[in-house]
Amino acid sequence: MTSTAVSLRNVHLTLPSRAGNVDILRGVDLDVKPGEALGIVGPSGSGKTTLLMVIAGLEKASKGDVTVAGRSLSGLGEDELAAFRRDHVGIVFQSFHLIPTMTALENVAVPLEFRGAKDAMEIASDRLTQVGLGHRLDHYPSQLSGGEQQRVAIARALASGAKIIIADEPTGNLDHVTGEQIIKLLFDVKDQHGTSLILVTHDRSLAQRCDRMAEVLDGRIVAGAAP
Ligand SMILES: Nc1ncnc2c1ncn2[C@@H]1O[C@H](COP(=O)(O)OP(=O)(O)OP(=O)(O)O)[C@@H](O)[C@H]1O
Ligand SMILES: [Mg+2]
Repeated sequence: MTSTAVSLRNVHLTLPSRAGNVDILRGVDLDVKPGEALGIVGPSGSGKTTLLMVIAGLEKASKGDVTVAGRSLSGLGEDELAAFRRDHVGIVFQSFHLIPTMTALENVAVPLEFRGAKDAMEIASDRLTQVGLGHRLDHYPSQLSGGEQQRVAIARALASGAKIIIADEPTGNLDHVTGEQIIKLLFDVKDQHGTSLILVTHDRSLAQRCDRMAEVLDGRIVAGAAP
């Protein structure tokens, strides 16, 4: 057991672009404790989504140390990173990212089947019921409201058993009332399962409702890097 869920030390990310290399993350230090909710704010283009990608193992840091759920990601190859993501991080995006040709139940169950879970359908059904969608199991994403689709995405993140949930503007495509329900659900999940929640938002008042708020500016964390 480690005492931090996420620990970043002097993390840099440089990506090539037509105009030359872009330094997107420029020396990020960040700690998140188990069970802690961290709200991340910062201007558009400051590097918030990129930071989440690095924590989720979707982008590899060019320099520095990234430790998530007790594992250092630096030495992992593509297959190991994919396994790491599957087992340790649940990701909730602004635009839901559901598979349109699968029902709500299948969207949650199929990733579990990939992990070899024998009772994938049952777990998926339980998780969907938990987020209030027990009556929508056989609906396709196009037959669900935005808030319902986001709840499917949260059920999918939950079903993985991940102890870290990362959410990038999860209410950005929802009206205020529905967005508030989704936020409440994310906080409930954190409280009930002891997951860490890393929530990127443009809404400072929402970030302030987290246990801690961090501010990203120009590829660096300028406030709130440590508990
Ligand atoms: N694959 C890429 N290649 C080159 N540059 C990129 C790439 N992805 C992002 N960037 C650049 O990195 C910077 C940070 O982008 P990022 O998406 O992390 O910002 P953000 O803080 O999430 O912004 P927003 O609030 O608008 O979502 C931007 O200037 C963006 O153009
Ligand atoms: Mg972003």
